Amino acid sequence: MTQDEMKKAAAIKALEFIENDTIVGVGTGSTVNHFIDALATIKNKITGAVSSSEESSKRLIAHGIEVFDLNSVDNLDVYIDGADEITKHKSMIKGGGAALTREKIVAAVAKKFICIADSSKQVELLGDFPLPVEVIPMARSYVARELVKLGGDPVYRQGVITDNGNVILDVYNLSIIDPKALEIAINAVVGVVTNGLFAQRGADILILGSENGAQVIQ
Ligand code: A5P
Repeated sequence: MTQDEMKKAAAIKALEFIENDTIVGVGTGSTVNHFIDALATIKNKITGAVSSSEESSKRLIAHGIEVFDLNSVDNLDVYIDGADEITKHKSMIKGGGAALTREKIVAAVAKKFICIADSSKQVELLGDFPLPVEVIPMARSYVARELVKLGGDPVYRQGVITDNGNVILDVYNLSIIDPKALEIAINAVVGVVTNGLFAQRGADILILGSENGAQVIQ
């Protein structure tokens, strides 16, 4: 199986977690794109979706799936999203697609976070993938200096503006031994909107696509 076929296998398996007549929380990325395409096959059974990015909203709408504003939704049973890295404790690095803030917001509302990923995303320790940090544009240099004090090497992601009008710093060479503590420490820097560590609220279930198909890890 190719990496993309593994992503697709995990995405299709996630349909088993979708209840009839519910609104589904939908993340962002190439794995989620497979999920959106699969969701379209059962679109008449669901009420609609809440989306974590303009990109996913467009794809959902193109499939005829109604996209609800999160403010009009009281609760979400599940949030389905990919990851850039995930540990056995289901802590993640996310934000490779720059959608981390909206992803974190939708994930916070959902009762269950189901991560769909191919096997290359499973790691012992987070941090080989540079940690994305969404930053208010005027604070970019200040936040970069603070991230250096935290032990990282921040790099400005050129040419990228998030759906919220902000910029991204990708932080290299962080040693992420305590993801929950680092998530809090980075979010405490003035000018940071949020960072791509999903450890305070990690995934509840991992659906991992591998050579053997999709495996559900509770
Ligand atoms: C988007 O901002 C990210 O958090 C994605 O969920 C993550 O980058 C995984 O992307 P792929 O599914 O494309 O690997």
